[in-house]
This record gives sequence, structure tokens and C-alpha cells, in this order.
Amino acid sequence: MRIRLDKLVAHAGFGTRKEVNALIRAGRVRVEGDVVTVPKTQVDADAAITVDAQVVSYRRYAYYMLHKPAGVISATRDRRETVLDLIDARDQRGRELFPVGRLDRDTTGLVLLTDDGALAHALLSPGRHVPKTYRATLDRPLDSFGKEQFQNGILLLPEHVVTQPAEVVEEEANVYRVTLHEGKYHQVKRMFAHCGCHVEALYRLSMGPLALDPSLLPGDYRPLTEAEIAALRDAVKTHNEMQN
Ligand code: URA
Repeated sequence: MRIRLDKLVAHAGFGTRKEVNALIRAGRVRVEGDVVTVPKTQVDADAAITVDAQVVSYRRYAYYMLHKPAGVISATRDRRETVLDLIDARDQRGRELFPVGRLDRDTTGLVLLTDDGALAHALLSPGRHVPKTYRATLDRPLDSFGKEQFQNGILLLPEHVVTQPAEVVEEEANVYRVTLHEGKYHQVKRMFAHCGCHVEALYRLSMGPLALDPSLLPGDYRPLTEAEIAALRDAVKTHNEMQN
């Protein structure tokens, strides 16, 4: 794959496009040992590139898992604090990160942030059914009729759509692990409300094969490992293959 030199260096975290252009023009960037001073030069994405003496390793896309705290909005821009405000400017340089799907402001737990639009689209696509697992703390126990309703589908109003079967498992008194295979607006809260229960706290544990790293405190984030990225890609692919 060939890519513009300034884009590649910016994506590797060496500055904004403007800052990187200045580095290149100043003769501080080498491609395969030779100084290149024209920012728009097309280079091989695998070429050996250095800035001063530092090796540039190119990543086409960035992927971060964030432990979303309560009170933060799952959006790229808002007058209130957003999940992107929790990501260091250095990790956003030259990239347009966005959260994959939305959690309510008071929901905590796993949020995936990336600039890989194709993977995000695939993970959210209703046809792909990538499961999402939550822990819900309720004001009262869910009775056996409620559990059956989760299994059989619940009519959501005003859309008049019936939810797909969802798994619900009691973890401890009034605490349930719920797995959904779709993502409708306020879905977990509305499903429990239909069964007469109020969700007092909601926490997302996982999205497909990606589980929130338990060592991340609320507000912390880290890049995904290569294995985690591969597992996400595989989850989407595997589902495609099952449908074809
Ligand atoms: N379902 C909800 O009700 N809220 C969330 O934030 C996520 C799923």
C-alpha cells in the first residue's frame, strides 16, 4: 500500500499534519535512509522511515478501549464532556477518532474508539448481531415472567418493534448480566422497565470478543493489542460467513 509521507508520519503520532509538514520540510524525515523534503511524496506503508533518529511505525487505524465513567457523553462533540475529551491529544493527532456506538451518559464501562469506519460499521450493523454484554443493577429482582420475556422478545414502543431474544443471568441479588444481539435506543433500560424494574446502574462488560480490561480505572484507556484487533475483525468476518 502506498500513502502520502505526511499522512503516514502524522498517523504515527509525530504531530498534526501541519507540524509534520514542517518536520519533513526541515529535512528531519528519512525514507529508507534518504532525506525526503516533499510532504506529499507517496511512500510504501512498510518503508523504513525515521524522524530524527526515531523509527516511525505506521498504523493505518487506531483502536482504543476506554473505561467510560458516568457523566460523559458518547459523542465526538458536545458542550458537555465527551469520551474524546478523555483521550490525550497526542493519541488523536492526525486522526478522527469516534466511539463505536453509544452508551447513555450514566452508563459506564467499555467504549471502543477508532478511526476505522469499516470495522465500526460492521460491528454496529444490525445484520451482524455482534453481542454486547452489560451488568445491570436493578431496584428489585426480575421475576421469572420477566426472564421469559427477555428470551421471547419485548415490544418496544413507540417503534412497535419486538426485541430479539436476549440472555439474562442473575449474578447476585438484583444484579443481572444481559447479552443483547442488537442495539436499540436505551434498550436495556427499556426492556427492564417493561418488566417493572428500574435500572439503577448499567455497565458494559464486552462487545463481541472485546472485554473491558479490568485493570482500567474509570476514565482510563489503552490501545487494543494486535490480538484484540484481530479478534474483532474475525468476529465480523465469521458472522458474514455464517450468513452467506
Ligand atoms: N442500553 C441502555 O439502556 N443504555 C445504554 O447505555 C446501553 C444499552
